[in-house]
Amino acid sequence: MPDAKPRRIVIDTDPGIDDAIGILLALASSEFSITGLTTVAGNIGIETTTRNAGRLLAFAGREDIPVVRGEAAPLSRPGPEPLNLHGENGIGGVALPDPGRQPESRPAVPWLADLLLDQPAGTIEILALGPLTNLARVFLHHPDAARRIGGIIAMGGVIHETGNVGPRSEFNLWADPEAAEVVVSSGLPLVLVPLDVTRRVRASREFALALRAAGTPLAVMVADLVESYFETKTHQESRPLHDPCVMLFALAPELFRLEDLHLVVNTGSTGEAGALTVDARGSAVRVATGVDGPAVLDLLARTLTAA
Ligand code: RIB
Ligand code: CA
Repeated sequence: MPDAKPRRIVIDTDPGIDDAIGILLALASSEFSITGLTTVAGNIGIETTTRNAGRLLAFAGREDIPVVRGEAAPLSRPGPEPLNLHGENGIGGVALPDPGRQPESRPAVPWLADLLLDQPAGTIEILALGPLTNLARVFLHHPDAARRIGGIIAMGGVIHETGNVGPRSEFNLWADPEAAEVVVSSGLPLVLVPLDVTRRVRASREFALALRAAGTPLAVMVADLVESYFETKTHQESRPLHDPCVMLFALAPELFRLEDLHLVVNTGSTGEAGALTVDARGSAVRVATGVDGPAVLDLLARTLTAA
C-alpha cells in the first residue's frame, strides 16, 4: 500500500555483515520510518557495532537518524568473543565512510524507554538483529515503557535444526540467554525468526553479481558485503541472510509461515545456553517456521536495485 503511513521502527543491532544488509534494506524501504539505531555488543564489541551503525548511515546519507549506544555486555554473564566471521572491522573489511555524527549522549535503554513513553502506545516497532540485552533491560527497568512497544521482530533461536554456536544454540540467544528468557517470557508482542527460516534465504555469488550489475551505490555496497561474507568462509557456495529476514518478514509476512509455539529458553551451561525447547509450559511466541526463499530474495534484490 504505497500511500500507507510508514511504520516507525527502531533497529536494535550488532553490525555485523548481515545486520548491515538488513539496515541498508530498511533504509531503502519507503514502508519504514527509522526512528533510530540502537546498538548492542554481539558479533563484535560495542564500540565497533556503534561505529558501524554510524558508518552505514553516513554511507546512506541518513545522518538524520540517531545512533544510540547500547549494552556492552550481557545481563549476567561474560560477553562472547568477537566472531571472526564478520572480519576485523565487523563488516567484512568493507570500506564505509566515517560516521557523520556522534552517537547520542544517552544510553540506548533510557533512550528507548523515553521514546516509548513519549510516543503513542503501539506506534514503535523494534526490529532486533542481535543479542536481546537492550530490550531485556527496557522490560526489566522500564516495564511501563516496554508495554507500549507495538511489536518486536527478532532474529534468533533455532527450533528443529542444529544451532550455529552449539548443538541447539543460535548466536543471538546464546550470547545473552538471560535476556532472551526475559523477552520471550515478557508477554510482549514478539515474532521470532530462527535459523530454521534464515538458512533458507541464501545469497550466492550469482546473487552478488546480479546486484553489482545493477550498478546502484546501494546494490554495489550490498554486493561488497555479501562477497566479504564469502572471504571469511570461502568453502560455502552461499551465505544465509539471517538479519535481513527480519526486515523481509516485516515487509512481506505473507511470504513466511508463522506458528504459535510455547518456548522455554535454556539459561544453563554455555553448551546449551540459549537453546529453545517447545514445551506447553513455556511462553507463547509467534515463530516463523517457513519461508518462500526465492520470493524473499527477489523482494530483497528488487528493493536494493530500485533505490
Ligand atoms: O545467528 C545469526 C545472528 O548472529 C545474526 O544476527 C548475526 O548477525 C549474528 O549476530
Ligand atoms: Ca546480528
